[in-house]
Amino acid sequence: MRRYAFHCNIEEIDRKYYDVVIVGSGIAGLYTALNIDERFSCIVLSKENIRQCNSYLAQGGIAAVTKKEDKLELHYNDTLYAGAGICNKQAVEDLVSEGPKEIERLVAAGVKFDTDSRGDFHATREGGHSKNRILHCGGDSTGKQVEEKLFNAVAQKKNITYKENTFLADIVTQQGKAAGIVVYDGQYRLYVSPNIVICSGGIGQVYKYTTNPSAATGDGIAAALRAGAELDSMEFVQFHPTALYFGAENGRHFLISEAVRGEGGILRNQKGECFMRARHPMGDLAPRDIVAREIFREIRSSKVPYVYLDITSKTKEYLMQRFPTIYSECKRQEIDISSQFIPVCPVQHYFMGGIKTDLNGRSSIQGVYACGEAACTGVHGANRLASNSLLECLVFARRCAQHINQSGCRSISFTSIEIETQYMDRETDIDAVINKIKNTMSDHGGIIKNQKGLKEGIKTIDEILMQMQHLKLSSVKHMEALNMAMIARQILSAAAARKESVGAHYRDDTIGYEGIKVC
Ligand code: SIN
Repeated sequence: MRRYAFHCNIEEIDRKYYDVVIVGSGIAGLYTALNIDERFSCIVLSKENIRQCNSYLAQGGIAAVTKKEDKLELHYNDTLYAGAGICNKQAVEDLVSEGPKEIERLVAAGVKFDTDSRGDFHATREGGHSKNRILHCGGDSTGKQVEEKLFNAVAQKKNITYKENTFLADIVTQQGKAAGIVVYDGQYRLYVSPNIVICSGGIGQVYKYTTNPSAATGDGIAAALRAGAELDSMEFVQFHPTALYFGAENGRHFLISEAVRGEGGILRNQKGECFMRARHPMGDLAPRDIVAREIFREIRSSKVPYVYLDITSKTKEYLMQRFPTIYSECKRQEIDISSQFIPVCPVQHYFMGGIKTDLNGRSSIQGVYACGEAACTGVHGANRLASNSLLECLVFARRCAQHINQSGCRSISFTSIEIETQYMDRETDIDAVINKIKNTMSDHGGIIKNQKGLKEGIKTIDEILMQMQHLKLSSVKHMEALNMAMIARQILSAAAARKESVGAHYRDDTIGYEGIKVC
């Protein structure tokens, strides 16, 4: 019998009907909702609130071709190169060609991108880009500015209900099609719907060190897996090269945007050497996976857990204006970035894998869609190009909404579902379980992997899954732990199955993607 995370009698809980249910209130979720026809009732559910998601935290910006000296073809090539050549090419073409129009739409919606002295968009560069094409807002608070504008627009729509502090427990299907979701907000509720859009974001909390907020426990991906959806590219986990080493809270590190390197920041090792120059033709602005690995190697050889990012070539005035969030957080950690190097280290940041979808967001279950970090269209291949993620949210959210608008809404006569009633009510130290998952993933599912470690990791996670298989999940934390263990298992087994190194998936015990023995 199928494992559900919830354990109530579905007949007895509060039940509501919506034409479209959207799980997640990051840019993918809000933008999908805004593009749903007003004739359809729609609810957007937030696990916490709009501030607790990866979109809101995005500093760098949105990559799109908006300058004369840039070309769609160059953005396409850069995306493919960063993705180690294994991106879904049609997805990349849709992303880059529909991107500029989405920027125009954001501007029309009131998003104020930063401009230069002539009043044109100021575009910066990040790792893997051959041109300056990253647009940004408020210096380094792009995600926050876009989220707030979209959220205000959602609030004006009569067909959209927004609800906070609501945890997705399970996706419910009938005859193999979407029928609704069960959520927990202090009590269980059922939202019956023929269209469920999973925009629940990333999985960073599965790791011990991440830039992701506490909500990023992979709930949407795990719920889709339990419902029978196909997942894809689960071995591709992105580590951001430059998280601030000091001041992490519960393993969550503050991000130092790649845009700092785009504006002249240089990585230095413990000897003060600019080590990236000799490691890749693009130097400090090589694709993210390459820079993260080189930093990891520096850390391993120096035995000091960080390297330095040097932006002291810029004045205090410039840095305070261009990177206000980064400047003030570093100041809070007693680092004046205009005169001191910033200690940085790579930590988990983004997930290229997720619920397998087509280019309209459709998963393998009819009526279940996914968009944003929870989805895998294949657009990022083995390694996402910097600042393509917010663009992905915009382009594929619109496509997903359009598909729902065109398909209309199936009527659903919800009949009951069979669930196991005998879940064991056993005392479990759930914090210990969660720590074990995080430690296992950091030890065996990190930047550099090998078969021995992956095998050990799988064994540990399987023991946890076994222990949880019939356990009554009596709190949100218990349900999150199940989700995290399921995601961890998928990542480790996909990594064990892919013997070659490619993009962010790097093994030190097999040959590289191009047949080169990697050290
Ligand atoms: C950054 O600003 O470096 C992060 C942006 C991204 O993840 O693409």
